[in-house]
Amino acid sequence: MQTKFPQDFLWGAATAAHQVEGNNINSDFWVLEHLPGGMFEEPSGDAIDHYHRYPDDIALLADLGFNSYRFSIEWARIEPEEGHFSKAALDHYRRMLMTCHENGLKPTITFHHFTSPRWLIATGGWTNMDTSGKFARYCAHATRHLGDLIDFACTINEVNIPMMARLLFLPNQEKDAQQAAFVQAAAQAFGVSPGRLSPFLFAGSEQGREVILEAHKQAVSAIKAERSDLTVGMTIAMQDLQAVEGGEAARDHIRREIQDVFLEAAQHDDFVGVQTYSRERFGPEGKLPPEEGVELTQMGYEFWPEALEAALRYANQGPGVPMIVTENGIGTPDDTRRVEYYRRALQGVANCLNDGLDVRGYFAWSAFDNFEWMLGYRPTFGIIAVDRETQERTIKPSARWLGEIAQSRNSYVSPAGYAAP
Ligand code: GCO
Repeated sequence: MQTKFPQDFLWGAATAAHQVEGNNINSDFWVLEHLPGGMFEEPSGDAIDHYHRYPDDIALLADLGFNSYRFSIEWARIEPEEGHFSKAALDHYRRMLMTCHENGLKPTITFHHFTSPRWLIATGGWTNMDTSGKFARYCAHATRHLGDLIDFACTINEVNIPMMARLLFLPNQEKDAQQAAFVQAAAQAFGVSPGRLSPFLFAGSEQGREVILEAHKQAVSAIKAERSDLTVGMTIAMQDLQAVEGGEAARDHIRREIQDVFLEAAQHDDFVGVQTYSRERFGPEGKLPPEEGVELTQMGYEFWPEALEAALRYANQGPGVPMIVTENGIGTPDDTRRVEYYRRALQGVANCLNDGLDVRGYFAWSAFDNFEWMLGYRPTFGIIAVDRETQERTIKPSARWLGEIAQSRNSYVSPAGYAAP
């Protein structure tokens, strides 16, 4: 069935500073990436040099037909030493925001997307209660300087990912010798004891969750104190968690820890960002491997675009605030599979809208092929390819096809005319 997306529906693609800017040298990730014998396939280096190439990049996204661009501002650049705020860095982001407006794109800004300043980790990072206030202070400074140009603000990207990483993806990390050696080296690099090493993604403890949710809360107040009318929320990683063969209890327990607690915390916000890539299945013993016969993506996730509709419907029972799909996408070298993934995922969004769910926008992850954290540049999530040698951008058919959907606001546009040359 053809659905017309609402007139003011947000359409865009997303990036995160560290994954695209390059040379984010004051961030904790830069340190982690350069540890000998580390866990990273390669360091981020120049990334896709978005820090300098943003004018052309933003124009490219606007030309495709989108009306918004989601990107993050980098705390490690804005506050490279504790209490020292860089006007030059803030001016840089001001110019980026201006460029969005000049191109007709509404800026959707994330204040924290996984990376933190080095000094924050040296002072106990995301398990130190003081971090909440420090994060809010940074958000206040940034909003004072940039707030008049921001349309939508996400405080923290995937508030639940540290908990999710510990409970779902790295449950055996304590036993892993390579991991232990890495933690040891990293702790030494930041000058803390291994037990106190808490970059954001490592903060998967009760204490970490408390610090993160408190940071969000204080950040919302700080942002609103500068600009009371700014639309602010957090984003949550929302896989579709399915139970099979008596796996309900295991699934529900995990869901409580990694989704429900965060959805409840979002009830006072202006919106909640839903970020979905795939599903996870649970049996009585816990998480199950991918189902046999199901296609896998470059990340090893099941190709499961229907997860988005399920995640939106689940999130909708939670905080009772509007939802924005702040990330959805697939790592694949085959752009026809990307189109197929988006086609089915967007059908899910349309189904939700038809049932009256309050979904306000959709951002594809990602605008560009970029630095996929520990996996380096191998997984390609972009709707625009980037040549690693020349930094040349090449628009993929999926980008034109998504742009056509954004322009026409039709839930279905035949992919046929958008095949690769
Ligand atoms: C996320 C991450 C992105 C990843 C993406 C693909 O918010 O999970 O924002 O940084 O690149 O999820 O794995």
